[in-house]
Amino acid sequence: MGKNSILGQLCLSFLVYVYVCNSQEQGLNTYTISSFSYARTLLKPYDWRYIRVELPPWFSSMNFALESDVNIDLNGINNASGSLPMICFREGSPPLPDVYNTSRTGLVKDYISNNSFVGTLNLQNVEKCYPMQKNIWLRVTNEQISPGTWYFGLFNGIGPIRTQSKMINRGTGYSFSGNVSVEGCMTSTKLGQFCNETVNMLSCDDSYNLTGIGLDTSMGKSVIACRDANGIVCRDDRPRIYVVDVMGIAEELVIAVANVTFNEAPPSNITTLMCYARYGAMPLQTIYDFSADISKATLVIKFPKAGRWYITVQPIDISNRSEAAQGNSLRVCYLLEWQVLQCPPDKAGLNCTFERYVLQTVLRRNPSVPFESNYIPVTEKLPSPSVAFPLEPLVSNISAGQNSDENWTFFLLDIPYGATGGNIHIRLTADAKINYELYARYGGLPSLNSWDYFYANKTSSSNASMFFKLYDSDEETISFYILYVRGGTWSFGLRQLKPAVSTGKTVISLSLERCPEKCSSHGTCQSVLDTSGLVLYSYCACDRNHGGFDCSVELVSHRGHIKQSIFLIASNAAAVLPAYRALRSKAFAEWVLFTSRGISSALYHACDVGTWCLMSFRVLQFLDFWLSFMAVISTFVYLSTISEVSKRTIHTVLAIVTALLAETGPTRSKNISYVIGLGALGLLVGLLIEFSTRIRSFPFSREFQMSLLDRWETIKGWTHNIIKTIIKRFRWGFIVAGFAALAMAAISWKMESTESYWIWHSLWHISIYTSSFLFLCSKAKLASCANERSPEVTYELTRQNSFSRGEQRPEG
Ligand SMILES: *[C@@H]1O[C@H](CO)[C@@H](O)[C@H](O)[C@H]1NC(C)=O
Ligand SMILES: *[C@@H]1O[C@H](CO)[C@@H](O)[C@H](O)[C@H]1NC(C)=O
Ligand SMILES: *[C@@H]1O[C@H](CO)[C@@H](O)[C@H](O)[C@H]1NC(C)=O
Ligand SMILES: *[C@@H]1O[C@H](CO)[C@@H](O)[C@H](O)[C@H]1NC(C)=O
Ligand SMILES: *[C@@H]1O[C@H](CO)[C@@H](O)[C@H](O)[C@H]1NC(C)=O
Ligand SMILES: *[C@@H]1O[C@H](CO)[C@@H](O)[C@H](O)[C@H]1NC(C)=O
Ligand SMILES: *[C@@H]1O[C@H](CO)[C@@H](O)[C@H](O)[C@H]1NC(C)=O
Ligand SMILES: *[C@@H]1O[C@H](CO)[C@@H](O)[C@H](O)[C@H]1NC(C)=O
Ligand SMILES: *[C@@H]1O[C@H](CO)[C@@H](O)[C@H](O)[C@H]1NC(C)=O
Ligand SMILES: *[C@@H]1O[C@H](CO)[C@@H](O)[C@H](O)[C@H]1NC(C)=O
Ligand SMILES: *[C@@H]1O[C@H](CO)[C@@H](O)[C@H](O)[C@H]1NC(C)=O
Ligand SMILES: *[C@@H]1O[C@H](CO)[C@@H](O)[C@H](O)[C@H]1NC(C)=O
Repeated sequence: MGKNSILGQLCLSFLVYVYVCNSQEQGLNTYTISSFSYARTLLKPYDWRYIRVELPPWFSSMNFALESDVNIDLNGINNASGSLPMICFREGSPPLPDVYNTSRTGLVKDYISNNSFVGTLNLQNVEKCYPMQKNIWLRVTNEQISPGTWYFGLFNGIGPIRTQSKMINRGTGYSFSGNVSVEGCMTSTKLGQFCNETVNMLSCDDSYNLTGIGLDTSMGKSVIACRDANGIVCRDDRPRIYVVDVMGIAEELVIAVANVTFNEAPPSNITTLMCYARYGAMPLQTIYDFSADISKATLVIKFPKAGRWYITVQPIDISNRSEAAQGNSLRVCYLLEWQVLQCPPDKAGLNCTFERYVLQTVLRRNPSVPFESNYIPVTEKLPSPSVAFPLEPLVSNISAGQNSDENWTFFLLDIPYGATGGNIHIRLTADAKINYELYARYGGLPSLNSWDYFYANKTSSSNASMFFKLYDSDEETISFYILYVRGGTWSFGLRQLKPAVSTGKTVISLSLERCPEKCSSHGTCQSVLDTSGLVLYSYCACDRNHGGFDCSVELVSHRGHIKQSIFLIASNAAAVLPAYRALRSKAFAEWVLFTSRGISSALYHACDVGTWCLMSFRVLQFLDFWLSFMAVISTFVYLSTISEVSKRTIHTVLAIVTALLAETGPTRSKNISYVIGLGALGLLVGLLIEFSTRIRSFPFSREFQMSLLDRWETIKGWTHNIIKTIIKRFRWGFIVAGFAALAMAAISWKMESTESYWIWHSLWHISIYTSSFLFLCSKAKLASCANERSPEVTYELTRQNSFSRGEQRPEG
């Protein structure tokens, strides 16, 4: 306790004060709804992550801060390059930028900005991608972005290679970290960017006689009628904001005003009462979905989406009067009314003449793939429920009296929100020409001019959409997917074509699948959680030869595959060199090691390229890495001429350490330095053991009596001897050649890339084996590699050693 702590308290209270001031400045109307922090994550080449941000209807702004270590020059971006790090976003579902090839993704060659989210563009069906940048700092308000679930995808390169399985994944990775927070308005009646815009609720009652809108209850339509709770209101030219909640699938939303009076008499055409409607967000001056001059006509929105609509009503002076006159004159009184028309539960259409079926979710009995389900109608028109159900008993049969030239039938289904990373599969088969067109829409009924996806015929479909993938398309079969389908209610409208030419039988099936086309039988379906750990999404992990989001792209041809397999497997034949050398030197341990190293590597690669697997991939991988670590290290140990006992001890220690290395993250590049370090350590320990025996034989007792100079001389001579021994010990030509081969191996390692790794990896095999061979040969005065003198290696070794030892012993 003292001055310091008082000062500290003062500082603290000052900071608190400043903080309070700051937060007051930000507005007392907002509070933090959610705040996520994403720890630093490394994205390897062709890796990706999804970030999910949930924006509730009462949110006011989203703050998105991302930091990464990429540095991209916008001008240097190559059009065709798929390896560009980028950030993509999409509403409702995770973005999937490589369904089509790169040229068709929504890549915008600019940095992401606060305005990237603005637009009348339906962001549910498209996605936007931007090059990744070092710092991203976004603050997007509820005027710019609509509430819902937003997904940000961080990609380190896209293209078919992304999902291809890779043994080598080298290249530049990048790491990112970030914070995402969402702020919301405290009260539901105050919305807008600063939560200071008053939103007017409408009061609804069956008894209202809406004078502005004629009531239409024909065909059993149910009507929800509402009007401004405040009755007639008078306003100057400031807008008045209303929210309208449309519950469920509706046919029409009608907005009108009654009892309009302008302060100018007579009501003239210099003032209009404009009404703007926008789904999900506040309409802005330039951004809205529908608009009308409702002083003249009602605003009718056909098949409105279920959810919250924002409506602003604003008198607009369209005359060119002087400023002074404008100031006080504009004043208008009106009563806002709206109504929602809905058909009976099993009917649809503006006249409620079409059939509508709510499909029931039937979970598939396959616990290994969660969230897979079929959708089937429950109706007495079908004798028994089945996954693929006939269409003809269900289609709308409109009496001839109603001269409708379109017959629609609607199917409604619910996608669970947790299943966002799945795909809807729709399949139609007929025994004759298919007589239907199919329109799909999220949140509302589809029609000829409002749909999210459609298929009419071979030439006309929403095939250009990124998330619509057509697989079969002929006269009798249609099969397509809606990829990464958004959670919520989807409507499918089947439009029967003009006179039913054929009376064939059509069968339709709708299902939710985790991976399209079961990954085309070239991969496995993986399900992972997004970065926030809340939602599961699925993707195909393809085999070595295929890629693409559904593994349908053949990246390596059959011949290429054979060539690669042969290279990768056959290059292990080079293991014969060091194995033979070891055998000739009667170094049987090394011989076993090199032989099994070659065999295990060949087996590992045979399994890896998908040719043949003797054991499970993991076991083979472990064996391959462990034996190669062991081989490298025991080459080093072999070079030191220590007793077999010490050697065995060192070997055992190294076997344990390398097994641990191989078991924990075998593919780490760091391991190479560990292994070389361990090998060098082994060699050093070997040499030390050897020389320590020599030091022991050094006449220490005499040493102490020697003069300093003598001692120096002795040590000098002794060191000289050691160096001489070392020089004699090795055949330096082989050492140099061995290091050259090692350098070659390092170069091959460095050059390995996803595309060309097979050639470099084969070279790597060859150069590693060659260098082992050369190092084995470099052990001098033993059986020479060039001219075989004597196979009696061990004998010579001991003789040489004792001889050299005897030589070194100082005269005493
Ligand atoms: C990339 O494409 C745009 C048009 O799509 C073109 O103007 C530009 O020159 C292209 N850049 C390169 C490097 O090919
Ligand atoms: C990419 O798309 C363009 C046009 O859509 C097409 O011409 C080209 O062949 C496609 N490339 C690949 C590799 O599929
Ligand atoms: C977004 O807006 C915030 C403040 O509203 C600003 O600080 C930030 O720099 C903007 N970001 C971009 C990329 O324009
Ligand atoms: C995220 O928040 C933490 C703690 O508030 C901060 O240290 C970090 O710099 C932030 N990261 C970014 C990218 O803003
Ligand atoms: C809301 O606040 C902003 C900024 O403080 C201000 O410009 C705007 O006029 C306010 N709107 C209302 C309706 O008070
Ligand atoms: C509404 O109008 C109808 C006739 O147009 C009338 O019969 C009914 O009483 C009115 N209801 C109310 C509450 O005014
Ligand atoms: C609105 O006008 C109608 C006639 O068009 C009238 O019957 C009704 O009383 C008026 N409402 C109010 C609140 O003045
Ligand atoms: C309104 O406009 C019409 C034609 O656009 C014109 O004939 C009429 O005189 C105008 N009325 C007033 C009150 O200006
Ligand atoms: C108002 O003035 C603009 C030019 O300033 C002109 O284009 C427009 O037609 C005028 N509108 C009316 C209603 O006179
Ligand atoms: C609804 O019925 C009216 C008359 O009964 C008809 O004119 C109109 O075309 C019908 N609309 C639809 C979409 O069937
Ligand atoms: C395909 O469908 C479109 C839209 O319905 C239509 O205009 C076109 O004539 C059809 N083409 C064929 C070959 O049927
Ligand atoms: C609609 O159905 C009725 C009765 O089934 C049929 O007469 C009419 O031709 C159909 N219209 C179309 C466009 O198929």
